[in-house]
Formats: sequence, C-alpha cells, structure tokens
Amino acid sequence: MTAQSEDTAPDPEALRERARTALLAARDRTTLLTSCVEGPDLTAQHSPLMSPLVWDLAHIGNQEEQWLLRAVAGREAMRPEIDPLYDAFEHPRSERPKLPLLAPKEARGYAAEVRGRALDVLESTPFHGTRLTEAGFAFGMIAQHEQQHDETMLITHQLRAGAPALTAPDPDPVSPAFRGPSEVLVPGGPFTMGTTTEPWSLDNERPAHARLVPPFHIDTAPVTNGAYLAFMDDGGYDNSRWWTPEGWALVRDNGLRSPLFWRREAGQWLRRRFGVTEVVPPDEPVVHVSWYEADAYARWAGRRLPSEAEWEKAARFDPASGRSMRYPWGDADPTSERANLGQRHLRPAPAGSYPAGESPLGVRQLIGDVWEWTSSDFLPYPGFVAFPYREYSEVFFGPDHKVLRGGSFAVDAVACRGTFRNWDYPVRRQIFAGFRTARDGEGA
Ligand code: AVJ
Ligand code: FE
Repeated sequence: MTAQSEDTAPDPEALRERARTALLAARDRTTLLTSCVEGPDLTAQHSPLMSPLVWDLAHIGNQEEQWLLRAVAGREAMRPEIDPLYDAFEHPRSERPKLPLLAPKEARGYAAEVRGRALDVLESTPFHGTRLTEAGFAFGMIAQHEQQHDETMLITHQLRAGAPALTAPDPDPVSPAFRGPSEVLVPGGPFTMGTTTEPWSLDNERPAHARLVPPFHIDTAPVTNGAYLAFMDDGGYDNSRWWTPEGWALVRDNGLRSPLFWRREAGQWLRRRFGVTEVVPPDEPVVHVSWYEADAYARWAGRRLPSEAEWEKAARFDPASGRSMRYPWGDADPTSERANLGQRHLRPAPAGSYPAGESPLGVRQLIGDVWEWTSSDFLPYPGFVAFPYREYSEVFFGPDHKVLRGGSFAVDAVACRGTFRNWDYPVRRQIFAGFRTARDGEGA
C-alpha cells in the first residue's frame, strides 16, 4: 500500500488486496513454523509458559472461523465442540497439552478449510456498513492475530531443546557505521497519541488524543549486549540498590545472573539462539530481559525507562509539521530497508542499523528488532471502547502488565506500527524484549 496519512481515507479495493496479501503471508509463516519439526515436537509442551505448537495452529483457525465465518458471514459453527478447547481463557497454557486437542493433521486440515472459506468471504464482503467490516477491519484483525501467534510460536521454538529447525540469513552489518549521538532531545509540548483513522488499529490504540509530554532525552538506539555486560561486570545483579523490591526478589528467588538463554563458559558469555550456541555479540540490542532487569540497568546507568507516551512521541512526532506520523520515517509502510520485522532474520540487527528507518530527530530502530519495555502500566486511553471483544485488551488493563512498544524481528509489519501497544508481565523473559533508556530534559 502507498503512503497514507491521518486525513486521507484508504481505498477499499487497496485494503482488500492488502488483507488478502496479509492473510496469505501469515499462513505461509504459520506453515513454516509448524512443518519444520516432526509431529511429537508439535504436540509436546516445550515450556510450561507456552502452548503446544499444534494448539496455536488450531486456535488460529478457530479465531478465524469465529470472526470471519460466523461474525462477518453469519455461518454456523463448523465444529462447535472444539471451541472451548481453543478458548485462551478457559484453559491456561500449562493445561493445554492434556486437552483432547486436534492432532497435527486434523488441525492443519481445519485451519485450511476455514481459510478457504474466509478468502471467499473476503471477496464478497463490502468494506463498509458495519463496524466489523468497515475498511476490512475483521480481516486485518485476523491477519494480525495469526501473526501474533506466529511470534508466540517462534518463542516456543526458541525455548525448544534439540537440533535447530529454523534458519535465516543474518542482518547486514551497519553501513555506513552509525556516527550519531547516543541520545537526542525530544522537545516538550503536546503531541497526538493513539489513532482514530488507522483502519486496522486495535481497540487499545484508540482514540487519537492530545498528550502533554515534557522535554526528555532518549537513546538513539536500543541498549546493546555490550552495554548490558558492563552492568553485569559492575555487579549489577549483586547490588540491591539498582532494583525495585519486586525486581530484587526476582533476582534472589531465581538466582538471575544474566539475560535468559545466556551462560558463561571459559571466561566468555555464550547464548543459545534457536538451537545454536554462539558468543554473545556485543553490538546487538540485548534481548530476553525482564522489565525488572531493564529498569535496574537504567537506574545503574543514571537514567530511566521512557514512559509509553515518551516512546510514542519519539516514534511519531514530526517537529517540522507538529503532526504524528504512522511510523518514525513517515506514513509509508515498513520495508526491509527501514526495519527488521517478519522473521526475515532470527535475531536483532546491530544497534544503529536501518538509517532509512530513522525518526526526524535521529532515533533508530524504534520499529522492529526488539520489543521495548516502557515504564508504563497497560491502561486504556481516554474514550477507550472495547471492540470487538473485551478479552483482546480490556481484561488486561491495570498495574499487572507493562507496555512494550515497537515490535521485534519476530513480528510482521501488519501487527506493528507507531501506535501499536503490546503488554506483558514485568517478570517475562522469553519474549523478544529489550529496551532503550531516557532522562528528563531541562524544564521537565
Ligand atoms: C497482544 C501479544 C499480548 O499474545 O497474548 C493473541 C495477542 N491476543 N491472541 C497475546 C493475542 C489474543 C496478545 N498480545
Ligand atoms: Fe489468540
């Protein structure tokens, strides 16, 4: 799709084409993630934190059936007896392997049958008239849902023991080398946060509203493994002064010494990444740290995490026009020149990569590479209305979840934008999350 700003309505046929492409791309990824391992690896639980891969596969199909075939097209349930098995709220992840789940072959067949019918529905549905079909929202929502589960399945692959099943080329080295400053000043004042016009934005991103953000400085790149190692070498995990009480309890109770998947051997830090053990690369954004570790690092560095509003202002505010853009680089969709998204690479790119993805103020890698922890709790914007179901966002609002922004190498562009909000428990480490730091500006 071409550039689209907050004030031009996207053409329905362009949106239909975009929906078709997004659904097909998501299914290609799902197929790869569920065909690169044998049956036992699909039905096994690789971590109590995750579902068996075969659960994700049938859940993807079941959500698509519920929203595109039943809600949009008014069809009868294909297999009503399986709905409860794939309802994420009925069964926590730890219980899912014991359920009478569809076997891999059945799950594949079910998802494929739903998809065949959904593509027919896509061709015959007007993109206006109801809130669900306006601008093809339900189709965009389902493409995003599948891509979100594709990221979840990639996390399962990362947790899985055994020989590597997935490979991808590494990102290119940064060229030309990044010579920008380590931080920039974002001027104080109001900016527009959230969106009312982005056609496939989810309920929690809405509506657009004015936010007053005092001046602040923010890192031009995510915090690297090398910088994080300096914190570790300085006794970061040994000194309670850097940690909140909950964070310090996490360190003590679990004996934390490093990011997840790292281990020390012969005087070197190694990490396991999709079944391969390698030396930790110092110039790459740190990943697999909890919110508590990000928060402690920032305090050790004499800084703090950015708030969610600060992050979004850094990512969207154009000082020249005063307008909020869809992405740091403008309103055009992501490309491989602008951001590391979509599992093209199975790792973040070196800090300072993607000059074409830079914000007007010179901040890089806000979109893609690693999800970035913010200091903020996941809360509704003023005027929030749950749509189309309370269980997407509303039931998660409150102090238990922290907001993550920007998207990782593992998520597709369809489920990632300047307004997109992710959230998780602050103890989570298996997600592809890192962070950048900030500090108050003068007069804040
Ligand atoms: C927005 C990534 C937190 O994976 O729990 C998937 C997305 N919601 N199915 C999640 C989601 C329903 C959600 N996150
Ligand atoms: Fe889901």
